Amino acid sequence: MTSPGDGAPADATAAAADGAAPRGAAPQGTAPQGTAPQGTAPEGAASAAQHDADPRGAAPAGRTADVLLRPLVDADLDALEDMEEALFGAGAWSRASLAEEIAGPGRWYVGAQDRASGELVGYAGLWFDGYDGQVMTVGTRPDAQGRGVGRMLLDALLDHARELGAGDVLLEVRVDNEPALRLYERAGFERFGRRKGYYQPENVDAWTMRRKA
Ligand SMILES: CC(C)(COP(=O)(O)OP(=O)(O)OC[C@H]1O[C@@H](n2cnc3c(N)ncnc32)[C@H](O)[C@@H]1OP(=O)(O)O)[C@@H](O)C(=O)NCCC(=O)NCCS
Repeated sequence: MTSPGDGAPADATAAAADGAAPRGAAPQGTAPQGTAPQGTAPEGAASAAQHDADPRGAAPAGRTADVLLRPLVDADLDALEDMEEALFGAGAWSRASLAEEIAGPGRWYVGAQDRASGELVGYAGLWFDGYDGQVMTVGTRPDAQGRGVGRMLLDALLDHARELGAGDVLLEVRVDNEPALRLYERAGFERFGRRKGYYQPENVDAWTMRRKA
């Protein structure tokens, strides 16, 4: 996805003119514009609430009981900006990119909110191009990592991809990102390719991964 030039990641290559660049996936040219289904946000809201109550896709019991999933809204932008910077540094998406993403066509973003503090401690996004789902990003605030939040968010994306009728769910991940690789592999994603120098200027390769929705 092409960088909008205002802070979106320079390492992304997939193209979607209507939002930020995916960290997770998006083969070039697979997303005809305008194919996104209408009304994904309300569906997403229902799905997130359902997921919260339904342990099928959740992380092991007890690890995420203190977190609920809900749709992201503009009021979350401050927290999202902070987490972006903490998690992705120079590759952080800008506030404008984040705002576009959470409301963008074909996008479905979900946040993990700590029940006690009410703070956002994680977020993830899916892009549905009419055929497949693309994991745009997954992030857990550093102090909330290792509690199953990432898995809970990823499972919510997968649930939603299934609801949309997606065939596969795709993503890309830095070959040296061990926590993310483990998260994705534990969730059933398999490597199917390697993109040389996908992440620039670091010149780090990406694994492309996929699983059936
Ligand atoms: C990747 C990330 C989202 C995982 O979030 P998390 O909430 O800590 O993940 P979970 O607690 O649900 O753990 C999911 C799996 O990842 C593994 N994992 C989490 N942190 C890990 C670490 N530091 N090293 C190795 N494995 C790790 C867990 O062991 C778990 O596997 P398990 O079920 O076998 O125990 C988080 O590390 C993060 O935000 N990283 C920075 C942003 C990023 O790189 N995102 C992915 C690219 S888009």
